[in-house]
Amino acid sequence: MSIRRAVALGSGSYLPERILTNDELSKTVDTTDEWIFARTGIKQRHIAADGEWTSDLATKAAERALDMAKISATEIDLIIVATATPDQTFPSTATRVQHNLGTTQGFAFDVQAVCSGFVYALSVATQFIETGKVTNALVIGAETFSRILDWTDRTTCVLFGDGAGAVVLQGQDGNGTKADRGILSTELRSDGTHNELLYVDGGPSTTGTAGCLRMRGKEVFRHAVSNLATIGEEALVSAGATSDDVDWVVPHQANHRIIEATARKVGIPMEQVILTVSDHGNTSAASIPLALDSGVCDGRITPGNLLLLEAMGGGFTWGAATLRW
Ligand code: UT7
Repeated sequence: MSIRRAVALGSGSYLPERILTNDELSKTVDTTDEWIFARTGIKQRHIAADGEWTSDLATKAAERALDMAKISATEIDLIIVATATPDQTFPSTATRVQHNLGTTQGFAFDVQAVCSGFVYALSVATQFIETGKVTNALVIGAETFSRILDWTDRTTCVLFGDGAGAVVLQGQDGNGTKADRGILSTELRSDGTHNELLYVDGGPSTTGTAGCLRMRGKEVFRHAVSNLATIGEEALVSAGATSDDVDWVVPHQANHRIIEATARKVGIPMEQVILTVSDHGNTSAASIPLALDSGVCDGRITPGNLLLLEAMGGGFTWGAATLRW
């Protein structure tokens, strides 16, 4: 049976020039490279320059994805930016990216699901493509988390970084089997009970400020491992696949230990997991497309590979997708 699939034509990413190492951080907060690396796997993160906005990072990642996909911005019908750190409260960062890319057709909007944002955005874009409403979509995860960190709080400021990643999706006909290229399944969940475990202590309707990120790391860690393993397995079942079919896991890069524990639960060896957490830290919605692009550009991810994407973040929100590259 012929069905419409959202096929990935290309990926792109962008990291700000400035690198902040653990050693450098240990000069301003009470921490060490040893502690950060042992607890998280992070060695360094990138920090956006003064005047460099989330939309600037997103635009650069989008341009690279369009180059790889060999299509022009004027052919894009839909732009979704997943971000929890928009340039402004409004307009959306996505409309700014649309303007930066020099296009006026179609429509653009932001999705806010914090670290799960890219999987949410991918799922939304897939629905538009599968219904035939959209042919070409640009799905971007972009963040400047450095702007919402309390740089005196060692329990959070060592964990996050800035960056952006993007994927171009195109509607193409498939056979309706797991051998099809494109997004084979997406699963999304949320549970607002745990708002207070990971949140930002500001916002337009509360304090009128952007606020700072606050997290009870240990509790988040526990929920992350169990939620990610479950949703990963659900996405595989929805695709009619098993962990044996997976070539690469492309997880949200929050903590090496979370990634390892989740891979063990799903039954996929670490040799099949794309890891970028050491170089980027946790870039929230940008982390999956950044990891994906790094796997594509270094030749590990090749056409026909089955990828399992999974993420968990504030809200809580979590989600997973299977994608045949
Ligand atoms: O992306 C959204 C999802 N977010 C996550 O998935 C993050 C989930 N959580 C985590 O990754 C981990 O819980 C952390 C990396 C945040 C923390 O690791 P942990 O092993 O859970 O450490 P902990 O919070 O239990 O802290 C252990 C000790 C504490 O000292 P005491 O109370 O044992 O004396 C902390 O005060 O480490 C201390 N500590 C630090 N020491 C040096 C906390 N942060 C630091 C630091 N440097 N930066």
